[in-house]
Amino acid sequence: MRDYKKNVLIQYRFVSIIYDFLDLVFFPSEHNNPRYELAKKIPNDDLSVLDVCCGTCVGTTIIARKNNKNSIIGIDISPDMLSIAEKRIKKHNIRNLSVRKTDAENTKFNDNTFDVVTVSLVLHELQHETIINILREIQRVLKNNGRLYILDYRKDEGFLFSLYLKIFEPKHTSVFLEYDWNKILNSIKFGLNRIEHFPYSQLIDATKIS
Ligand SMILES: C[S@@+](CC[C@H](N)C(=O)[O-])C[C@H]1O[C@@H](n2cnc3c(N)ncnc32)[C@H](O)[C@@H]1O
Repeated sequence: MRDYKKNVLIQYRFVSIIYDFLDLVFFPSEHNNPRYELAKKIPNDDLSVLDVCCGTCVGTTIIARKNNKNSIIGIDISPDMLSIAEKRIKKHNIRNLSVRKTDAENTKFNDNTFDVVTVSLVLHELQHETIINILREIQRVLKNNGRLYILDYRKDEGFLFSLYLKIFEPKHTSVFLEYDWNKILNSIKFGLNRIEHFPYSQLIDATKIS
């Protein structure tokens, strides 16, 4: 395991304790909440959905509760985040969502397995090389014409948010915030459909090109 993954395990041992509280600070209500908007994009049909780097499943459970016909798998490398996810799934008696400890760079799922893949609020904290590896892996496990939704931070959200990013996020987040998503997605065989803006964040909708 590369060093960054060791750091992720240590970091999220502590962050897991306050993670859901932080989420409430950024996205306090259902109105104009990107997590609910992401859930609305996914039809409640017989679809296999993968949530990459699902963390505590705070967003994944919103999809699972709205779409009881979806079969959803959440993957993450942090046992501490996954343990909270499992408690949440049990508490709400969610039957169409399961989680497993899996590295997003090497998921071991078969090619062309999922109809939809989501990845939320994680890419901004990763190095460019890792982001590309994860997106390539997502491309591999998505079915042809499968849908990818990336929910993540965006820039230009004012002084306080920029200060927050400077203090709490790694230096390379500033590179991420400048991404030309059309170019990046095209280079790994995705077509960009649209980008929608929400508080602090944007929702990128792309389709796998066969
Ligand atoms: C900021 S949290 C986001 C959690 C969740 N997606 C959400 O929307 O709240 C980032 C998560 O990514 C996970 N992570 C980072 N690198 C990973 C990797 N290579 N494979 C799987 N999970 C990873 C961390 O363990 C952590 O739970």
